Amino acid sequence: MNQPLRIALIGAGVMGRQHYHHLRTLDDATLCAVCDPGLQAAEFAAACGVPYFTDHQQMLEQSKPEAVIVANPNSLHVSTALACIAAGVPVLLEKPVGVHLDEVRELVAASTASAVPVLVGHHRRHNPLIARAHELLSSGALGRLTSVTALWQVQKPDSYFDIPWRREAGAGMLLTNLIHDLDLLRHLCGEVRQVQAFTSNSVRGFANEDSAAVLLQFDNGALGSLTGSDAVAAPWSWELDSGENPIYPNQADQPCYLLAGTRGALSIPQLKRWHYAESGAGWHQPLLHVQETYPHEEALRRQLQHFLQVARGAVAPLVSAADAGRTLALIEAIRKAAESGRACAPEVI
Ligand SMILES: NC(=O)c1ccc[n+]([C@@H]2O[C@H](COP(=O)([O-])OP(=O)(O)OC[C@H]3O[C@@H](n4cnc5c(N)ncnc54)[C@H](O)[C@@H]3O)[C@@H](O)[C@H]2O)c1
Repeated sequence: MNQPLRIALIGAGVMGRQHYHHLRTLDDATLCAVCDPGLQAAEFAAACGVPYFTDHQQMLEQSKPEAVIVANPNSLHVSTALACIAAGVPVLLEKPVGVHLDEVRELVAASTASAVPVLVGHHRRHNPLIARAHELLSSGALGRLTSVTALWQVQKPDSYFDIPWRREAGAGMLLTNLIHDLDLLRHLCGEVRQVQAFTSNSVRGFANEDSAAVLLQFDNGALGSLTGSDAVAAPWSWELDSGENPIYPNQADQPCYLLAGTRGALSIPQLKRWHYAESGAGWHQPLLHVQETYPHEEALRRQLQHFLQVARGAVAPLVSAADAGRTLALIEAIRKAAESGRACAPEVI
């Protein structure tokens, strides 16, 4: 067996600690340093038994990690990842890959030129149920994908907005939450050619959106809609329906994505697949259904296992910086479409 890979953590907040929780269950990786200028980070590093740093440059020079997990604030993602790449260290970079497309282009160029890989933490793609859905769609089990319905409708408590930046423009549910759904839609249904969108802040009146309705036209011709709100008492969202994170009480019987094609349909996360017994059948015949199965494993842990392979050079990242950049470009297109009232195409990365 390989020596355990020495991994440093930059940003030991909520998400960084979740990564550590899974890292410590893997035999072939070990934490070697923590870097975070925050008040409680030194204590966390001491509890993990590793050296503590407040500056990532110093950490890279002194600890010489073989791979780094970056889970610091969004605006620092690209500059931190660039420093790791300059030191030749593969990066697992939390989402969003960056906050502006130009900085993401710089990151993609640096990763490509140096051949130092970046895996972006769109962890839901690593969920086995998404892997199974991806297989079904790729195998043509639904025929030609035609109609895509996605729902993200939750209630964030008032206390969530006590933290000032969560009320500011640009920090709303599009970039924080719907980015996950849009990334999965790209992964499962293909690239998006153009979008139309409306957003509203009418429930809370903050500078960012509390509701959005998006129309999507995919390159393959499929048409879709995504309706989202973080101000509704409703059960339709990946968080509540998938059971991926136990902090959200599970609504296991409710779907968040409904994908329909010429030969069948699929509800996610239930992975219930509908089809007719014979081709040519229609709405007067019984619509049959199959319960698809998949292994139950934690997406974040699987993402970390994949990252170890990426860092060892065995596989390419499932979500590269360029790929995650295309999801960010889609968010930008939705913003522009909502502002202008016109259909907008995502910029090329
Ligand atoms: N994949 C997901 O589902 C998911 C979920 C939550 C958060 N995230 C992402 O993870 C990242 C962190 O979010 P969080 O919820 O853990 O936030 P958080 O505020 O709990 O943690 C961020 C940490 O970064 C530290 N930090 C600030 N400046 C730093 C610097 N210069 N160098 C190193 N560390 C620094 C802070 O002290 C803090 O401990 C964000 O990018 C967020 O988008 C992803």
